[in-house]
This record gives sequence, structure tokens and C-alpha cells, in this order.
Amino acid sequence: MATNNSVYTNECGLPLNAIEWLETHHTSKAVERRQMICDLQLEAGSFVVDAGCGPGLWTPLLAEAIGPYGQIIGVDISAEALVTAQRRSYGKWYRKQVQYKCAALEELPVEAGSADVVFSANVSQYLPEPVETFAAMGRYLSNGGRLVIKDIDFGTMRFQTIDTGLQARVLQAREDWEQLRVDEGLTFEDSWVGSKLAGYLRAAGYEDVQEKSYRIVRKYPLPKAFRCYLQGIAEWFVCEGAPLLTGEDITNWLRCFLDESHNVLDQESFSSEETEFIVTGVWNKHAPTTMRFFDLHAVAQA
Ligand SMILES: C[S@@+](CC[C@H](N)C(=O)[O-])C[C@H]1O[C@@H](n2cnc3c(N)ncnc32)[C@H](O)[C@@H]1O
Repeated sequence: MATNNSVYTNECGLPLNAIEWLETHHTSKAVERRQMICDLQLEAGSFVVDAGCGPGLWTPLLAEAIGPYGQIIGVDISAEALVTAQRRSYGKWYRKQVQYKCAALEELPVEAGSADVVFSANVSQYLPEPVETFAAMGRYLSNGGRLVIKDIDFGTMRFQTIDTGLQARVLQAREDWEQLRVDEGLTFEDSWVGSKLAGYLRAAGYEDVQEKSYRIVRKYPLPKAFRCYLQGIAEWFVCEGAPLLTGEDITNWLRCFLDESHNVLDQESFSSEETEFIVTGVWNKHAPTTMRFFDLHAVAQA
């Protein structure tokens, strides 16, 4: 499946949307993710679409929130992810309330106007035209239904005890690399998308747009999953930004996270910090469509 391949691997052999990686990422932030779903105050009995559900890691949290009379449809373009999601839910108390289907975000396999909530986590970073995609998702929401988008923002990342100049250069290389990818027609990625989401939802025509941020801080000694998460992220930064970094910076950066004797993760003063964003917007099917077109146009001009 062409679309699937284009989002499923990157060029350096570290596919961060690989299932094993997603599981590590999920476990490492389990506390905050539970809080995120709790804060959404989903109504019992709701119909929720998990758009870009991957291996179904959010399904138990969503199912707990909507209770035994709610319904979830997980949607993804990766058949492999859906098979894993199906397997993970086997024998679980919520199994009968959940279905997984292969489709794209813009063409959700549900009736127009039927979903109370369309939830999408860690997918917007791969959307080359987020405003258009969010607008297209609106038609599947019931009148007054909510779109919920959750994503990361690397601009908020800080590592205590790592030279600030080195951090700045590595992050800048990653940001420049993401821009180069666009210019060179490679798979789109925007790891700085989190703080842009509220603007995208407003431009797509959503009302009552609300942003909530979650500061994720971990200090020494790091839980195992979080250590794996940081090491994966650290490698990913330099292998993707490698053409834009000096060899010395790459060596020093990798030594910080992977070296047995100079590893900053083993220092008592180590801490890491990042902020993730959840943005919600209400769909009003009676809102004038001309207004929506006007908003999209304004964004294109900006
Ligand atoms: C980083 S993973 C996130 C998975 C899951 N939401 C999570 O947070 O664990 C991104 C997922 O979005 C899916 N995806 C990306 N673009 C998509 C699109 N246009 N339509 C449907 N799924 C998409 C990918 O196949 C992948 O499973």
C-alpha cells in the first residue's frame, strides 16, 4: 500500500511509527496519557473514532472513559498496525465495543454526522495539509461533536546536564531537515506541530477551540521505558539531521545518551522535559461554509 509505506518508514532505518517503538513511547508516558483522556471528560456511551489508531494503544483508555455502552472504531492505513490492534484487544472486556478498519483520515469508514468524538493522537505530525484534513474529518462528527488532536512539539524539549549549545544545534538540524524533506519531496514530518494545532483547528472551521498542554518531566533514575524512549529519540535526531551536523556534534550527542561511561542518563542531576498538546474543537455543521473557505484561504496566504 503506497500511502502506508510513505508514512511507515523513514530513510534511516529507525521507523518511529514502528509498532515496538509506539509501545515503548506509550508506556513511557502512560501516566500523562491516562490524564489526557481523563481530562477530556468523554460522555459515557459515546461513539468515538480513533483516527490513526496504530496498534490500538489508546483503546483501553478510551473504552474506560466511555464505559460499556460506548463504541470505538479504530482507523488506520497500516494493515500491520490494525492486526496488532486486533490482537491486543483479544479477550479484553471492551472487545465487543471495538472495531478496527483500514482507511485514511479524510475518508473515515463511518456515517457522516455520526461520531461524538474523533480522536487522533500522534498523527498530525505526518499530515502535509493538516487544515484540509481536519476540515474533512469534521463531516463525520455529529453536530456539536468534538475533534481531539494530540501531538508532540520538539521545540519544548530540554535535557538537563547536556551542553545547551549542542542541544540547540541538534534540534536546529532536525528542524532544518524537516524543511529539506518538504523541499525534496520526502515523507512529510512536522515534529513541531503541537503548538500549531489550535490555529489549524480554527482555520479548519472548528469552534470553541481549546488547547491543553502536558509537561512531561522525568528525572534520574529513569524508568526503563523512558530511557529507551530517550535513546530512540536521540539516535533519530542525529541520523535524520546528520547531513546538517558536524561529525563532532554527532559523536558528542550519541555519547551523551549511549556511551557506557559518559552516559548523561546515569547522572544523578539528569532530567528531561517536553510538552505535549491536546487541542479540541467543536464541529458546527450549520456554520457558514463560506467562512470555512475564507479561513482556509487566509491560512494559505499566511
Ligand atoms: C505515530 S503513529 C500513532 C499511532 C497511535 N495513534 C498512537 O498514538 O500510538 C501514526 C499512525 O498514523 C497512521 N497514519 C498516518 N497517516 C494517516 C492517514 N492519512 N490516515 C490514516 N492513518 C494514518 C500511521 O499508519 C500510524 O499507524
